[in-house]
Amino acid sequence: MILVLACICAILGHILFFIVNRRKLQLTRSWDGPFHLPFMGSAYLILFRNLEQILIVVLDMLENYKTPIMKAWFGPYLLVGVKKPEHIQVILNSNDCLDKSFIYDFLPIQGAFTLPTEAWKLLRKQLNPSFNLKILKNYIPIFNDKSRLMIKQMRRELGKTIEFDMHNYMARCMLDSFYATNLGMQSDIQTVERSEYIEAAERLFDLAIHRTLRPWIHPNVIYNLTSDGKEFKNLTEIFEAPTVKIMKECDMSNRKNVKKLNGYNDDNDDDDVEINRPQSLIEQLLKLDPKIFDEKTIREELITMQFAGTDTTSTTISNLIVLLAMHPEIQEKMVDELRQLYTSKDQPVEYEDLVHLEYMEMVIKESMRIWPIAALYARASRNEVDLGDGNILPNNAEIAISVHSVHHNPEYWANPNVFDPNHFLPEIEAKRHPYAFLPFSLGPRNCIGYRYAWFAMKVIVANLLRSYKFETSLRLDSVTFKISMLTKLCGKYRVRITERKF
Ligand code: HEM
Repeated sequence: MILVLACICAILGHILFFIVNRRKLQLTRSWDGPFHLPFMGSAYLILFRNLEQILIVVLDMLENYKTPIMKAWFGPYLLVGVKKPEHIQVILNSNDCLDKSFIYDFLPIQGAFTLPTEAWKLLRKQLNPSFNLKILKNYIPIFNDKSRLMIKQMRRELGKTIEFDMHNYMARCMLDSFYATNLGMQSDIQTVERSEYIEAAERLFDLAIHRTLRPWIHPNVIYNLTSDGKEFKNLTEIFEAPTVKIMKECDMSNRKNVKKLNGYNDDNDDDDVEINRPQSLIEQLLKLDPKIFDEKTIREELITMQFAGTDTTSTTISNLIVLLAMHPEIQEKMVDELRQLYTSKDQPVEYEDLVHLEYMEMVIKESMRIWPIAALYARASRNEVDLGDGNILPNNAEIAISVHSVHHNPEYWANPNVFDPNHFLPEIEAKRHPYAFLPFSLGPRNCIGYRYAWFAMKVIVANLLRSYKFETSLRLDSVTFKISMLTKLCGKYRVRITERKF
């Protein structure tokens, strides 16, 4: 009897699915995709797998299906995977695809990164000036100081044959820079043995992805009762602690009265004249419209920036250093370029130098191409969108932009699986589709911090490479990755260093 009832329910459920989704099914009929079961769709492919296995399944799905657009049903959700630059260009510039996918719903942040379109538009317009050139130029001395401190800390690894985890140093250096540039705060994170914050952040994002993939713990009432839910709450407090502390020290009624960066100050407090001391992000947010940027919004934006700006930049640099350690000839060529600009390893990097680091720029781009930390990012459609070649994206679809697929497509890259900075020779770059390389995303909802990241990366790498030579036993064809919020190497970013004669 129970079996008969279950069969009837399954059949009715299936019929209902076809009725409710008939337009979506019609629009996606010609697109390839994995087999889907009643109710769960293709979720069987990822259930109960670890993050490393999930990345393999998802990338395999996006890369190996025959049609340029693929579809997969996960329960009631339609996932559409795109990997053609032409389609990606339409989607990233469409007003109907500015919303983020539900997969970001469980992240411990509520600011610009995840806000729905209308609220996001209002905020982004106000936030953009905080990332202008004049402001960012003044962060360069901070990036110099923080990378020098990292180099000093790394000296303890000199002469050791055993490899150490580069990311352990990079993550702290970037967070230290970020505390200074965003919160106006000096921290001891590079000199203490362990950082609770870094461990908390890593675990928080793993927990968030884990929850996204398990629909039965989506409702808060259930999740809060689980041990994961309780751990998530505790870790969120650790994650937010530096911002909460700084916000408490702020005098919100007198919105100008915030801490200035020690050691970089001058007495000039006039907004209308050229800014010649670093203004932390918090100082700038306090100057914005208090009706939009109330205390809660400022706190959320600072936490969002900390999430979106630190691990992204530090992982990208760690990737680069490991790739350089695997490719000594490219590392040497970068050092040759540095020798043209600097006479000593201690000479600080100036803003004017950055434009001359042309080879470095090609190498950093190539590292972001071959190992993009945002291998996938996800939007949601709020209307049907004509993709221009007869394909129509359905309304209410979750869209996965497969950056990894585009970055490894032989149609756009001569040797997609080889680490070859010549992929970015200007004459080759000029001929490539502009949406074939998108580490920072493109279109109106691109990365607001991409210039901040570029400045930080160039300064830090120019300082690191003048001090040390990097080697590794890792090999390009044998490393594996895991998907969390960012795509990271499984295991450690293992390198050895020797002193560089410069
Ligand atoms: C190498 C370093 C970085 C990479 C590769 C990177 C990549 C990205 C990508 C791909 C997105 C779009 C994600 C999506 O559409 O789902 C994004 C958005 C964002 N990034 Fe970055 N990012 C980096 C550094 C930074 C920095 C340094 C900051 C802040 C200082 C930052 C702040 C943000 C914010 C706030 C957003 C959301 C923008 C919006 O929705 O308006 N990022 N980033």
